[in-house]
Amino acid sequence: MSLAGSVRSSVADSAFEIRRREKRDADALFRMFDQPQCRQGMVLEPFSSASAVQAWFDSNGSDNYETVATINDTAIAFAGLFPGRGSQSHVGGLSLFVHDQFQGRGLGALLMTAIIATADLLLGLRRIQLTVFCDNERAISLYRKFGFEIEGRHSGFARRGHQLLDAFTMARIAAGGPARRLDAELLTRDLSDLISLSRRRFRLAS
Ligand SMILES: CC(C)(COP(=O)(O)OP(=O)(O)OC[C@H]1O[C@@H](n2cnc3c(N)ncnc32)[C@H](O)[C@@H]1OP(=O)(O)O)[C@@H](O)C(=O)NCCC(=O)NCCS
Repeated sequence: MSLAGSVRSSVADSAFEIRRREKRDADALFRMFDQPQCRQGMVLEPFSSASAVQAWFDSNGSDNYETVATINDTAIAFAGLFPGRGSQSHVGGLSLFVHDQFQGRGLGALLMTAIIATADLLLGLRRIQLTVFCDNERAISLYRKFGFEIEGRHSGFARRGHQLLDAFTMARIAAGGPARRLDAELLTRDLSDLISLSRRRFRLAS
């Protein structure tokens, strides 16, 4: 089914699934990354094709936690957690994109919840970090809600068209000690199906 058909279907049944990203998602994810808002938020050079999307995934290695939200098995959102190596094995990089037509309906927050549960409980990461354009208020507001703080501003960090834009680095530092274990118990109870990244249907907010 085309994405437009999937969108109509989503209005009809308001349901989507979350699962691990697979190779077959490259086409749908290219269409998502190519949406105007997604292109605008992208700090990397925008992708030129589905194979460029796949090459980027391949270049990130295989030890990552990459999730997609799907409608009728078509990917409409992507959340990636990219653990570091060696002296940075406690660090994870974050990437989050929601198809333009599905933004503002709670998907970004849901995927953030899954990523943070994965980082805290499955991997025991102490730091999650990301880079975001300073004019991306929607994303910055979402990240702040999940405990990310701005650590620094990079002037002229990347080009968008002919414009040189500034970007923030943001990070969330996990709390240590007993409080974290208590949080872990609560999260495990509420999110065990998300943490295992098994298939499940969710309702979209209207
Ligand atoms: C940033 C993004 C991932 C957020 O996902 P989303 O599904 O739209 O977000 P949600 O609906 O879950 O909203 C979560 C929070 O985002 C913020 N938000 C959502 N819509 C907003 C808007 N129009 N203006 C400002 N903040 C907004 C709010 O803080 C909101 O929380 P609230 O509903 O409690 O107020 C999504 O908009 C997106 O993919 N943008 C384009 C790609 C991008 O910029 N990715 C980030 C690269 S660093």
